[in-house]
Amino acid sequence: MTEKIDFNDENSNTSNNPSFDSVLQARLSRRGVLLGGVSSVGTAMLGGAGLAASGVAVAAQPAASAAGKLGFKAVAKSLADTVVVPAGYTASVLYALGDPLTAGTPAYKNDGTDTDYEHRAGDHHDGMEWFGLDKSGKPSLSSVDRGLLAVNHEATTDEKLSSFFLHANGGASTLPRPAAEVDKETAIHGVSVVEIKKAGKKWATVPASSFNFRLTALSDNMQLTGPARGNALLKTKHSTDGTKSRGTLNNCGTGKTPWGTFLTGEENWAGYFFRSATDDAARADKSVVALKRYGRSQGAASRHGWESAGSDDKYARWNNSKLGTSTDGSDDYRNEMNTFGYIVEIDAYDKTKAARKRTALGRFAHESAAFGKPVVGQPLAVYMGDDSRGEYIYKFVSAKSWAAADANPADRITTGDTYLDAGKLFVAKFKSDGTGGWIELSTSNPLISGYAAYAFADQADICVNSRLAADAVGATKMDRPEWCSTNVANGEIYFTLTNNSNRRIEPANSSQAAPDSANPRVYSDIKNGSSTQTGNPNGHVLRMKEGTAGNAGTSFNWDVYLFGAESSAAPGTVNLSSLTDDQDFSSPDGLVFSPSTGIMWIQTDDGAFTDVSNCMMLAALPGSVGDGAKKTLSYTKADKTTVSVDTYVGKAPGDDKLKRFLVGAKDSEITGLCETPDGKTMFINIQHPGENTKMADIADPSKYTSQWPGNAGYGAGKRPRSATIVITKNDGGKIGT
Ligand code: FEO
Ligand code: CA
Ligand code: CA
Repeated sequence: MTEKIDFNDENSNTSNNPSFDSVLQARLSRRGVLLGGVSSVGTAMLGGAGLAASGVAVAAQPAASAAGKLGFKAVAKSLADTVVVPAGYTASVLYALGDPLTAGTPAYKNDGTDTDYEHRAGDHHDGMEWFGLDKSGKPSLSSVDRGLLAVNHEATTDEKLSSFFLHANGGASTLPRPAAEVDKETAIHGVSVVEIKKAGKKWATVPASSFNFRLTALSDNMQLTGPARGNALLKTKHSTDGTKSRGTLNNCGTGKTPWGTFLTGEENWAGYFFRSATDDAARADKSVVALKRYGRSQGAASRHGWESAGSDDKYARWNNSKLGTSTDGSDDYRNEMNTFGYIVEIDAYDKTKAARKRTALGRFAHESAAFGKPVVGQPLAVYMGDDSRGEYIYKFVSAKSWAAADANPADRITTGDTYLDAGKLFVAKFKSDGTGGWIELSTSNPLISGYAAYAFADQADICVNSRLAADAVGATKMDRPEWCSTNVANGEIYFTLTNNSNRRIEPANSSQAAPDSANPRVYSDIKNGSSTQTGNPNGHVLRMKEGTAGNAGTSFNWDVYLFGAESSAAPGTVNLSSLTDDQDFSSPDGLVFSPSTGIMWIQTDDGAFTDVSNCMMLAALPGSVGDGAKKTLSYTKADKTTVSVDTYVGKAPGDDKLKRFLVGAKDSEITGLCETPDGKTMFINIQHPGENTKMADIADPSKYTSQWPGNAGYGAGKRPRSATIVITKNDGGKIGT
């Protein structure tokens, strides 16, 4: 989500084992996609040749990299309420908010009267992964015409508490919220899994598929696993032994495990909870420190007021106040917030398997979870970002070493238990010489065991309160870490740092931070001709190369692959990557390397450059850490003294290796990306078109800032809907090549 609704405010390690590599390549190539759709939304047309009917050619070297340049003509920036793709490509809508997931669910009327969202697509489609199916419905690494999409439904477009497009009259903007409205709003959050199939040249969902399912904010039996399972911090009235919770919330970035399960990151969950104005005194313990660190001050309004809808437990649980008399919280929901904020593992192929919240991977505003290249006999590494201003980059290293047989296990989710419930959690500290270190978050670290601001009880406490542990060791405060992804060509890890309005030459309070080498820019940008945006409004893309120890390493090299900027911005201080008119962008967010082509796809969720263009997706063929040069930025303080910051700028991409591929509908962000294993069908999400519409204008569609995808011929009504789209190349080729 864009910063304005940020409720949390306040080695290259290449395997030489060919047999392993073939297994890994096949596993990675399962990212893929689907389907087709009803309407054309782009420049054009559906052309051409369909996907290969069988087989997956996984190139040893990414094809586009081998060619050395991207094979399409860049699209121009756009403010139109449509989805624009390059000449020779076709985009179609596949799966939008409200679309049925069962045979008996009626078509979406899109007028605010629809219900039964437990059996429909949720809202705000975000991260997304492909899980292939063969003709008999078995999991397949090679299928290119049938599969499942696992889709995050992050949130809703809302104003004054209400998800107003879901309600006929816009809904109630005061407390108490009506239960019927809250029931819809809780049900549109979470995850959906939907089967998709290609018939002829058209992809479509399979509404009656027995594979389809939803997880919502109320789904029961989400297992809490890892070091914090059963800990006092997780005990609630719903789970008095602290082993499970209900639902998953604010699901943003995704990941896919080497054993074939779906990972979803819980991001801005903290804003959904309420604490009474006297809760600090009622608690009178260290939990107050943790609640404030995670953005929940007593008395602050919750995002939707769900806690106000009635005495039923499904509403009362959103009140995070200490109300009971127990000492351990088993008679109220004072600990309910501690059951959110995790990477959640889900078996997309089997809805009967309970999802797992993996506490070993830490608790924060999770985005994507990217695996370093698995190497047989070595631990696995999972890289993760915490998206809030000044938060950190983390790495989990498994206790168990990777075994090639686990790439095709009989039981996927219990395989996940063996890799993701035991290991070490690290946080990144970047140095000004272009190196950095991973600092283990452990009770054996005296900076943690002796931390004055918060007394950690045990490792479970560190897992639940990872931000406090990272504070204790002095990790580097980043410009909002969003997605990360591993370069399939060389194993380097890329992170989007979307923007940071709190970066300052001279910080005035604890929420601000001075520029440092890994977050080096502080500048001003003008929006709409007069509005000044300060800090790092446009964001950057950082990359890391692990040392010789690989996934388990504690040292790395880094540089900044790319700085977001307007092409007209000052080249020496702002447009440091020499972006042209075909490349300029702001606020990188989604980030995915294609295993098929090696292309890195960069998606934006922006509010800084939207006076010039809607959000967009770019294709890139990056080099490697250290291919550019050191750059020293100089800042003048109020007292006229100067401060210098050394940074490391990757080689400028030039015209052939970075191009704008797509621009989205009005007031949407572009997010989520997966593709069929042959790289010939891509699926992405258009999230929250029309999000700047005013609730007061709900009865007048002409005042909606977007009418997409209805204006592209998809579905009923004019209310804007988040949706998955399918992109194919008209000559049947690989996307972007
Ligand atoms: Fe949901 Fe940080 O994006
Ligand atoms: Ca501007
Ligand atoms: Ca995001």
